[in-house]
Amino acid sequence: MTIGKIIDGKAFAETLRGKVADGVGAFIAKTGRKPGLAVVLVGEDPASSVYVRNKGKMTVAAGMESMEFKLPASIGEEELLDLVEELNADERVDGILVQLPLPPHINEASVIGTIDPAKDVDGFHVVNSGLLATGQEAMVPCTPLGCIMLLKDELGDLSGLEAVVVGRSNIVGKPMSQLLLAENCTVTIAHSRTRDIASVVHRADIVVAAVGRAEMVKGEWIKPGATVIDVGINRVTDTEDGKSRIVGDVATAEALAHVRAITPVPGGVGPMTIAVLLRNTLVAAHARAG
Ligand code: GUN
Repeated sequence: MTIGKIIDGKAFAETLRGKVADGVGAFIAKTGRKPGLAVVLVGEDPASSVYVRNKGKMTVAAGMESMEFKLPASIGEEELLDLVEELNADERVDGILVQLPLPPHINEASVIGTIDPAKDVDGFHVVNSGLLATGQEAMVPCTPLGCIMLLKDELGDLSGLEAVVVGRSNIVGKPMSQLLLAENCTVTIAHSRTRDIASVVHRADIVVAAVGRAEMVKGEWIKPGATVIDVGINRVTDTEDGKSRIVGDVATAEALAHVRAITPVPGGVGPMTIAVLLRNTLVAAHARAG
C-alpha cells in the first residue's frame, strides 16, 4: 500500500515569513517607516488569546509594528466601532484585524463593514469579498489564500481539476471556492445539508475540509490520488486517558492510504494563516504608500 505525502505547511509558512521580512526591509528603506498591523481582541476566549499573542510575536519578528487592543467582553458596539474608526484614520496602521468571534451583543457585520477596505487584511469586508467574487484585485482572506498557495506548490496548474470544499463559512468555505474557481477548477461546495456527502467528496481531485467537526471526512470518501487540505482545528479529549489533542476535519490516518498529499493538523494550514496575514499587511502598506 502506498502512503500519501504529508504537506509541510510549517516549513512553507516559514519561507513565506522570510520573504515578507525581506519585503518589509525594502518597504522601510523606501518609506522610512514600518508597516503597522493593529489587532483587536474582545473578551478572553483562550483560543483567540493564543492566536493574538502569536500574531503579535510574528508581526514583530517580520520587522513590522504590532499594535494590540484588548477590550473587555462587556464593551459596547459603539465603542468598538469608534476604535475601528480611529485605526482607519491612523497613518501608522496599514492593517486592521478584529479577532472573531465577537460577543453575541456585537454585530460582526457592522464591525467588519466599518473597517477601511484598504486596511482589511482579513479580506472580510463586503467590498473585498465582492472584488474577489468578480475576479478583481482584492484583499483575500488569509486561510483560503494559504490553502491555494499550498495547492499550487503541490499540484502546479489547478486548471480543470474537480474541487470539493466542505463547509460554507464566510471566513474559509466561500472565499476558498472563489479562489479555486479563479484557478479554473470545477468547484462544488458541500455542507451540512448535502445529500450523500461521501460520494460528492469522492469526485474530488482537491478536497478542502473546513467544517470544524473532528475527523468528519473519512478516508474511504477520498478518491485515490486526491490532494486534501485540512483546515480544521478541533480539540478532542481521549476517552481512555482523558488527554486532549488537536485533530483536523479529516480522519488523517485513514486518508493517508488514499491521498496523493494531505496537510497534517497541526503543522499544515494553521501556520499559513499568520504568514499570509503578514503578507497581506505588507501588500496593504505598499498600496497605501503608493
Ligand atoms: N477567527 C478565526 N479565524 C480568524 C481569522 O482568520 N481572522 C479573524 N479576524 N478572526 C478569526
